[in-house]
This record gives sequence, structure tokens and C-alpha cells, in this order.
Amino acid sequence: MNLPDKQQVLDLVNKYATDTKDHLLQVWAIMEYFAIKLWEDKDYWWTVWVLHDIDWDYVNKDWKKHLQGDLDKIVSEINLSQEIIDDIKSHWYNFWLSDIEPNTLVRRYLSSVDELSWFMWAYFRMIPSDNPIDIKPKSINKKLKDKWFASGVDRDEARNCVTMLEISIQEFVEDIKIALSEAWFRK
Ligand SMILES: [Fe+2]
Ligand SMILES: [Fe+2]
Repeated sequence: MNLPDKQQVLDLVNKYATDTKDHLLQVWAIMEYFAIKLWEDKDYWWTVWVLHDIDWDYVNKDWKKHLQGDLDKIVSEINLSQEIIDDIKSHWYNFWLSDIEPNTLVRRYLSSVDELSWFMWAYFRMIPSDNPIDIKPKSINKKLKDKWFASGVDRDEARNCVTMLEISIQEFVEDIKIALSEAWFRK
């Protein structure tokens, strides 16, 4: 598999991601954790995950424009294979804006981590702790039922790990919080 140069990918992230950069750094950390745990190709996973929302700020967070023509335009600046572009687009499958199914491991994990990690970070910002290791999976499960909390997070998407990976929310949150606590950034 031909992967683009890492520096080129990072340059693209720095060029196009503003508000969304923190999210991309978080999924980067989570990706590393899972790629190692699952013995997957870390460089491949990294490229997909770190670019998965590269157009989000550019399209002004308009979900109808997410992963459409602007994404193609942005990634045409680097040499990205169609397979990776499809991997990226598959994370919008459940919103019927992508017909590319999350039918491989990298896609299923990305779709499972994406909204849940947003949600966990929103929760983490609220608790009096500086380390994501203090996130309690039980509390996340409970908070997911509170429709007023982090209302922008689609609850069905946040529960993708249950349907896509057959892993419970609590178990998955446990993994993600370890991944986040091992990362270099703090809130
Ligand atoms: Fe997205
Ligand atoms: Fe995302």
C-alpha cells in the first residue's frame, strides 16, 4: 500500500483543521492504541484517522457537505489512494451521506471511536481531573442517556461499538480512556 508522506499529511491537517484539530489529535492517540492492540498497520490507520475530518472546518461544520466534493478537492493535494479516501468516507455511512460501508476493521473502529470520543472528551472537560484515566465507563453510559448533555453527539453513532464490533460501551470506554491517558495532550 502506497501511503502519502507523513509530513505532507500533517501539513494538510495544519492547513485545513482549526477547531477540529483537537479531535483529530485525540483520534490519532486512540488509533495508535487500537492499531497496536490489534496488530494492525499503524501507518495506514494513522493516515485514515488523522484525515477523517480534514474538511469539517472547511465546510463550516455543515454535515450535508461533509465528505463530499470539498474533501476530494482537499485530499487531491496529496497522493492518497482511493481505498483511503473510501475508508474516510465510510464514517458517514449511517447518515446516508456515504454509500461506502464501514465493512473493514479500520472503518468499523473509526466509526466506533469517532462520536464516542467526542462525547468522552466533553464529559472529561466537566470533571475535576487532569487525566482521562479518571473517566468512569459507567458514568459515560449514564450520560449517554441524558439528551441535554453534549446534545450534538449522535447517540446511535456513539454506540457503534456495540453493533459494529460487538464490544460493550463500558469495555470500549475503558480502552479509549487508557489511550487518551497515554497521549501527550491534556485538557
Ligand atoms: Fe466526520
Ligand atoms: Fe470525527
